[in-house]
Order: sequence, then C-alpha cells, then structure tokens
Amino acid sequence: MQGRGLFITVEGGEGVGKSTNIAFLERHLRERDIDLVLTREPGGTALGEDIRELLLRPRDEAVAPSAELLLVFAARAQHIARVVEPALAAGRWVLCDRFTDATYAYQGGGRELPVAMIRELERLVQGELRPDYTLLLDAPVEVGMSRATERGELDRFEQEQVAFFERVRATYLQLAEESSGRYRVIDASLPLAQVQAQLEEVCAELAACWGVRQP
Ligand SMILES: Nc1ncnc2c1ncn2[C@@H]1O[C@H](COP(=O)(O)OP(=O)(O)OP(=O)(O)O)[C@@H](O)[C@H]1O
Ligand SMILES: [Mg+2]
Repeated sequence: MQGRGLFITVEGGEGVGKSTNIAFLERHLRERDIDLVLTREPGGTALGEDIRELLLRPRDEAVAPSAELLLVFAARAQHIARVVEPALAAGRWVLCDRFTDATYAYQGGGRELPVAMIRELERLVQGELRPDYTLLLDAPVEVGMSRATERGELDRFEQEQVAFFERVRATYLQLAEESSGRYRVIDASLPLAQVQAQLEEVCAELAACWGVRQP
C-alpha cells in the first residue's frame, strides 16, 4: 500500500523567485525518485486557468474583493477535485506554486477582507486538506517588484501600490509565525545560489521525512 503523498506549497510576493525555485525543487526531488505533480494556483486545471486569466487581466471596472475571493476559491475547488486530491491519494507529491496562504495574504492582507470569511471558504472548499509543508520566499517588496517588472506588462495585481504588497508580505510573515511547524521561511533577497543551497537542505529533509512515513 502506497502512503499518501506530500503536499508542498511555495508562497511569496511578486517576483520573489517562486517559479525559478520550483523548477529547482522539481529537479532535485525527481533525482530522488520522487513521483511529483507540479501545479499552480490560481490555475492547475483548464477551468482554473480560465479563472486565472479572469483574475489577472487588468480591467477598467473595479473588482469587488469578495468577487475576487469567490473566483479564487472556485478555481481552487476544481483544482483540489481534479488534481491535488487524486495525486495525493495515489501517493504522488504535489508541488504547488501558491495555495490558500496566498488568499490570506492577497485577499485578506492586500484587499483587507475579513479573515473569518476566508477561513469559512477554506473549510467549505478544502475540508481537512492543508499543505504538509510550505516554503515562504520572503524579500523586501522593492526587490520582488523590480524582478517582476523586468518581465514587461503588469497584471491586475502587479498594478497595485506598494502599500498593498507590504500588507501581503506582512500577512505571509504572520502566517509563517502562526504555523511555524509547516513553514520554512527563506530570505529570497539573497543571491540565487545561496537560496538554492538552502533548498537542497529542504529537499533532503523532505525526502527523509517521506522515508519515515512510508508504510
Ligand atoms: N535569488 C535571486 N536573485 C536574483 N534574481 C532572482 C532570484 N530569484 C529569482 N530571480 C529572478 O527574478 C525573476 C523573477 O523570478 P520568478 O519568475 O521565479 O519569480 P516568481 O515569484 O515566480 O514571480 P511571479 O510572482 O510573477 O510568479 C526572474 O528573472 C528570476 O531569474
Ligand atoms: Mg511565477
């Protein structure tokens, strides 16, 4: 009997290096023969990617924060049902670029929606499902923004003011403090080689913990 897979999420603000470091983690975990599903939120399914496009596209009409929140959770419901749960149940690991902590950070911290509202949707949509391990790539807002803006056109979130991203960052750091058991915070303002040296340690720790969990 194969044990349930590990659910790993990578979090952090704009341009901190999530995609770059997920590719690095993928390579190192596959080298350890770990069967891995790589995915992202919002997105990860055909429906979810359509919702992502709706969420990110800049528009003249102001989007109600609660409408944004419900779209995020609609995409998440589909993602959990079609990708995350089936993979974990089959013993595969899921490595996800952002998950519900991003909702607390962006819609809770950034948009200032009540935490209770997010918690309620989390319970309704996810039941007991929570990440086993979360890597927070943390960097001063200016560092991430300057990396992100080098890529060109800004999406609807990237067009926000600095104060928005400061609230996002502060919320992430608060979550990491509250759930320190599953969180690992990495200083993403360091040179990439130093970030990735720490990620190699993370891979070794995760593989060791997986070995112990196997029936
Ligand atoms: N530690 C680092 N030092 C310097 N540059 C970095 C570092 N990490 C990532 N970068 C560079 O910063 C840019 C943004 O990285 P990346 O796309 O991985 O960030 P992201 O967090 O996925 O961004 P987004 O929030 O937009 O998805 C890339 O050009 C990447 O090469
Ligand atoms: Mg990315």
